[in-house]
Amino acid sequence: MTEANRALVLALQLSPDQMDFVATNAESLEEAEEDRDARPRVVMIKDRVVGFLMYEAPADDDEARIYRFMIDRTYQGRGYGKAALRQALDEIRSLGHVRHVSICYAPENEAARHLYRSAGFVEEGLDEDGEMIADLVLRTQMDDL
Ligand SMILES: CC(C)(COP(=O)(O)OP(=O)(O)OC[C@H]1O[C@@H](n2cnc3c(N)ncnc32)[C@H](O)[C@@H]1OP(=O)(O)O)[C@@H](O)C(=O)NCCC(=O)NCCS
Repeated sequence: MTEANRALVLALQLSPDQMDFVATNAESLEEAEEDRDARPRVVMIKDRVVGFLMYEAPADDDEARIYRFMIDRTYQGRGYGKAALRQALDEIRSLGHVRHVSICYAPENEAARHLYRSAGFVEEGLDEDGEMIADLVLRTQMDDL
């Protein structure tokens, strides 16, 4: 996130049937300003802003949490979500202290379910708000030895 691309992130749109799936980017950016653990990331294809993702990975916790993710409606279905998620997971892995990543989504959100399952997330069940929780155990370089 930079001051320069902030307005472009705020202009990103979802289709009306997706609006309930994630908080608005305006809300997320406000949250990011107040929460020191929030790590907001802009999804860019070359110099074009196409999406937004936010996660937290506190240094004293082996769990990271991706809690905002969206690709602008115009750019969906082109593999950008998958590529952005892969890059976010690479970044989280490179922090070094994270062993697993959690994510949550509305159970009827088939696009999210498909995307996260193909990245290796395993569904754990519904939380108290009726959201599906899924978890990914990260492979580390030690696992490859
Ligand atoms: C979820 C989201 C980020 C995916 O982004 P995207 O760029 O469209 O995803 P991709 O094009 O990379 O597709 C990833 C996979 O999901 C599949 N997919 C995409 N939309 C789908 C849909 N509506 N139903 C089922 N599968 C879908 C793709 O076929 C692809 O699968 P594949 O790799 O097996 O071919 C996007 O749909 C979005 O912003 N949705 C609204 C906000 C939201 O729901 N965020 C998640 C809440 S946590």
